Amino acid sequence: MSRRLVETLQACEDWSHVTRTLFGPRPWDVKTRVLDAPSNVFEDPVTARLYDALYEDQRVAFLADIVEEVRPLILALAPGSTVAEIGAGPGRLLLALACNPQVRARRYEFVGWDPSPEMFAIAEEHRAASPAPESVKFLQGTTTDRPVQVVLSRTSLLLSRNVLSWIDDASMECLRWRQHLPSGSRLYVREVRRDIPFNQFKRRLLECVRLVVRGVELAYSPQAFAAAYLRAFTPPELRGILARAGFEIRDRPPRSALASDQERGELAEMAFLGHAA
Ligand SMILES: C[S@@+](CC[C@H](N)C(=O)[O-])C[C@H]1O[C@@H](n2cnc3c(N)ncnc32)[C@H](O)[C@@H]1O
Repeated sequence: MSRRLVETLQACEDWSHVTRTLFGPRPWDVKTRVLDAPSNVFEDPVTARLYDALYEDQRVAFLADIVEEVRPLILALAPGSTVAEIGAGPGRLLLALACNPQVRARRYEFVGWDPSPEMFAIAEEHRAASPAPESVKFLQGTTTDRPVQVVLSRTSLLLSRNVLSWIDDASMECLRWRQHLPSGSRLYVREVRRDIPFNQFKRRLLECVRLVVRGVELAYSPQAFAAAYLRAFTPPELRGILARAGFEIRDRPPRSALASDQERGELAEMAFLGHAA
């Protein structure tokens, strides 16, 4: 990452300055969801690998917190139940849950899917190296694919973390979840918020444009990072989408161990628990 770009980002005082710096002049306004911001960033193998690298080191405690948030939801399920994750990316969340000793003893089935070939390859690499490879399966695809729909039809808990922002028609996506999930199944959705305070967004961005992994300095794409927030929902928008799809929804204020959040994780992200009645 060029020092000049980092310095320019450090000096940005509002969203329009950031979007101009990263995407050139565009009439983008974060009052509404910016669907013109790129949505296919994880089809790029380098971005997929760098996203994975973010969680290698810098975001280990952050992921551990999310695992702790989800673990009781899994342990409330009958042994042998299916836990699914849409947009599982590098698979770190699903594998961390599956490898937890308490969870592992209850012989759940874990299935994650993702349309990005590189994300699928990374998830398979992590699965092969994990202590619980036999209980976890990754698929390449989306909920429009029959094999994924078959998994959904036996799922007791569906996890979705930072995926809906990337899907243009998130309402249709959530309707498909409700159509294929069995009645009584549960939902955990966690997403970044478009209404994140600008300075908190900037701290998160700067934390990622320079990251050190095993002593090597790397840079996560600032365009990919910013697109996630430009395409994101606000809590009322996402709550409405989930409720209209037919889920009973409860808010679940998320924790965050990111230094850049300064213990105000709930301003940067939102989480909901859902029930398919
Ligand atoms: C920010 S990553 C999140 C990965 C993972 N859930 C996590 O928490 O680390 C977003 C992921 O959503 C995937 N994605 C994009 N469109 C999708 C779709 N229609 N269905 C499922 N996953 C999708 C991307 O390929 C990418 O791996």
